[in-house]
Amino acid sequence: QPARAMDLVEEESGAPGEEQRRWEEARLGAASLKFGARDAASQEPKYQLVLEEEETIEFVRATQLQGDEEPSAPASSTQAQQKESIQAVRRSLPVFPFREELLAAIANHQVLIIEGETGSGKTTQIPQYLFEEGYTRKGMKIACTQPRRVAAMSVAARVAREMGVKLGNEVGYSIRFEDCTSERTVLRYMTDGMLLREFLSEPDLASYSVVMVDEAHERTLHTDILFGLIKDVARFRPELKVLVASATLDTARFSTFFDDAPVFRIPGRRFPVDIFYTKAPEADYLEACVVSVLQIHVTQPPGDILVFLTGQEEIEAACEMLQDRCRRLGSKIRELLVLPIYANLPSDMQARIFQPTPPGARKVVVATNIAETSLTIEGIIYVLDPGFCKQKSYNPRTGMESLTVTPCSKASANQRAGRAGRVAAGKCFRLYTAWAYQHELEETTVPEIQRTSLGNVVLLLKSLGIHDLMHFDFLDPPPYETLLLALEQLYALGALNHLGELTTSGRKMAELPVDPMLSKMILASEKYSCSEEILTVAAMLSVNNSIFYRPKDKVVHADNARVNFFLPGGDHLVLLNVYTQWAESGYSSQWCYENFVQFRSMRRARDVREQLEGLLERVEVGLSSCQGDYIRVRKAITAGYFYHTARLTRSGYRTVKQQQTVFIHPNSSLFEQQPRWLLYHELVLTTKEFMRQVLEIESSWLLEVAPHYYKAKELEDPHSKKMPKKIGKTREELG
Ligand code: CDP
Ligand code: MG
Repeated sequence: QPARAMDLVEEESGAPGEEQRRWEEARLGAASLKFGARDAASQEPKYQLVLEEEETIEFVRATQLQGDEEPSAPASSTQAQQKESIQAVRRSLPVFPFREELLAAIANHQVLIIEGETGSGKTTQIPQYLFEEGYTRKGMKIACTQPRRVAAMSVAARVAREMGVKLGNEVGYSIRFEDCTSERTVLRYMTDGMLLREFLSEPDLASYSVVMVDEAHERTLHTDILFGLIKDVARFRPELKVLVASATLDTARFSTFFDDAPVFRIPGRRFPVDIFYTKAPEADYLEACVVSVLQIHVTQPPGDILVFLTGQEEIEAACEMLQDRCRRLGSKIRELLVLPIYANLPSDMQARIFQPTPPGARKVVVATNIAETSLTIEGIIYVLDPGFCKQKSYNPRTGMESLTVTPCSKASANQRAGRAGRVAAGKCFRLYTAWAYQHELEETTVPEIQRTSLGNVVLLLKSLGIHDLMHFDFLDPPPYETLLLALEQLYALGALNHLGELTTSGRKMAELPVDPMLSKMILASEKYSCSEEILTVAAMLSVNNSIFYRPKDKVVHADNARVNFFLPGGDHLVLLNVYTQWAESGYSSQWCYENFVQFRSMRRARDVREQLEGLLERVEVGLSSCQGDYIRVRKAITAGYFYHTARLTRSGYRTVKQQQTVFIHPNSSLFEQQPRWLLYHELVLTTKEFMRQVLEIESSWLLEVAPHYYKAKELEDPHSKKMPKKIGKTREELG
């Protein structure tokens, strides 16, 4: 058995174990940023590391982000602030002096665009002002949307604390598969996706008096769709107040879209930020980050550091490297608290970044884009910006979605830099050259709607009775081909009929808060009498985090434990197996520990499973079990994922319809078996197009589950004679 030198800690759709290679790619990306450092300001002081044995990175000061405050103005000491009452903190926020003016503007206009620097109090204060002003009387609610789950949770917690209520009572949050609200909840922080789903049960949002679309500048897919829907609702609900809150970008566009709605500007309060660039491009930005953090720690006056990286794996690696070096340096340096923050981090760990830094120590927060505008951490004076982010892209011709590390936009880079000037004059260190900033970075980020698949939202819009999608009021329309492909896929899944109208099955699919293919798989479990098993598979697939972990000192044990879960048939069955055994252990954490399984992920899978089970009745699927007949489970999965199929050809795997070259991910249980026909849960582009979570299927099943989509001819095996004929069968008999 060849060793699998793969790291199993993964995140979102990032590629496990490919991290090393991805950095290499990122480095190639960085290499394109490679041009002589044009240092107009090379006379400026350089910051050099004074640590022994460490390589140093040379920065040059180039520009300054203007502030509104004098650099000499005394920084409102965070320590002092924290001692003051929470109300005093509320009064100290930039939005506070504008409270009355803002409330008057809201009273006078139905739609108001609110623009303000990050940290000025838009998210936490405005809903409270509205509450105090009586907008929640008579049981009416206020919604405030956030593009990110973490932001929705942490902001709700903060506001509950400020109002002195228990989270989930008057103030709550609602994110997919997690509802922390009750009958009493009048201030609802929710992801933009959740508000979208509210339209299904309440198309006119009748129970809401105010809808605040927050972080509008992020232009997520869901936020963009919300714009169109809310604009429409506002027309026939004149008493509904609509607020669009955004950082300082793009507000004119929002205003134009909402029929020239007025823009309310909350004047910023920011200290100037000095911007430094590296003199030469850095080959390895992660390593460069670690060195620079230590460099700042050793050479710079007190103040916390914020580092922007692209994802969980990278952040964990950077934190580990930092801790490691600090340990080695021991008492030679002052204490450095290393704190990660990313979407999947458990909430108790997330809360730690908001705790005050102990005197004498320095805090370094290593974050994803989430800290760019959604979260404000007090006390940050230094920002370290390697200039990358993880971005989704979509090719409507092939239907392939990929998530890659790409250079961030100028707008992004400036938002990041701005985070250094909140409490005092700050410094931003960019790990790229001034030339690269000028010539290599795009001005702004392309809105998500133009680089993602649309199956989900098209299904939702169709269920809302919006038929003419081509003429939907988009702020920026998606590419025509993407829309068309989404319609085609939904038709193939049986969600739409040939006239593009929603079918009964489509209506049910929209009821489930998961992707159309996953919904279809769940619906199909009725026919194959295996809904118990399919629910588990669906829940396990919905857990972003990897199920397995692989501590560096126990690699062999961890790999053995994982292989022990393998079942013939493929990865979906492995997931099922893990969950079933865990359930048999009484959902034990000890069991997880012994089997190198992530308890946190499993607990989440259990939550998701329970929620999905609760929805089964609504979609008329009864509970049933396949009693070990896994063929039925595999067929039900195929009924949902027949769009994602590949066959083995002489030159490796090709997708059945598009003939794209794809590869089984090395972490798959089928990596060495190379079955002839398979389906995959998703494709991830790293160094190659990898199929993740693969399942062995028979081509005949495709005709059984999707006769309208596949023709017998295209499923003929070109070289069936040369291959041992019944591999699939034997395995099935085993399974
Ligand atoms: O939305 P905006 O960026 O304008 O500001 P905000 O999120 O309302 O933040 C206002 C203040 O609340 C900031 O000073 C944050 O430090 C604080 N805050 C916090 O302490 N904890 C949170 N989870 C969120 C905000
Ligand atoms: Mg905010």
